Amino acid sequence: MNPTMKKIIIANWKMNPATPKEALRIFSVIHKETKSIKNIDVIFTPPFVFLPLLKQAKLGAQDVFFEKSGAFTGEISALQLKAYGITHVIVGHSERRAMGETEEIVQKKLKTVLESGLKAILCIGENERNREEAFPVIMRHELHSALLKIKKSALRNLIVAYEPIWAIGTGHAETPEHAFEITILIRRDLYKIAGRSIASKIPIIYGGSVASKNAVSFIKDGGMDGLLVGGASLRAREFVKIVKGSSEVQK
Ligand code: PGA
Repeated sequence: MNPTMKKIIIANWKMNPATPKEALRIFSVIHKETKSIKNIDVIFTPPFVFLPLLKQAKLGAQDVFFEKSGAFTGEISALQLKAYGITHVIVGHSERRAMGETEEIVQKKLKTVLESGLKAILCIGENERNREEAFPVIMRHELHSALLKIKKSALRNLIVAYEPIWAIGTGHAETPEHAFEITILIRRDLYKIAGRSIASKIPIIYGGSVASKNAVSFIKDGGMDGLLVGGASLRAREFVKIVKGSSEVQK
């Protein structure tokens, strides 16, 4: 964990909730309770249609297309996101990779996001933990592959989210101690790729069954610079506890 860095907590709502009314309700509860917290950046990544609704939020998108404009039915560009005041974009979430997003697509999306001056939250993580020696290889391969064509200077806008796929939505989170070991591997690779001064400022965050009972420990013992929260970010009171607990971790 970089002690000088402001922590980041992302509320990834995925394809939820069903109505704008419910989206506003969840947001209002969270915003009211957390708006005075200054040492955490809370970023909401609701479905695209709800982005304009959450006017007081710091906003991120769950995805983006890599072309600038044109005949790409159903897609949304980085420039369009910027025009709505969106600052962050999730790239390469495992749920998108499972729907067919290849490493090449992740590469292109990451490049587009970073070159547009938006912050990219690049998700990497292994599918299973059967063979202890295999998983760092997979995770590091995803990291290297995604960063292949990115200029060093653009990496200032990178955030790396370590999300073991087996931990997402299962209630079985990684242990903070193990997550800590993984951040060391990621940080070491980032140093090699980006050089010390840039790499030391790239936040590394954890995602996968984060809840109020484990959030603080990921920051404190897991050395995380933040959290990517799925299911628990839709339960307003639970998410408030995650943000408040994390904000109280002493540097
Ligand atoms: P989860 O999702 O918190 O529901 O496990 C995390 C994510 O997919 O980003």
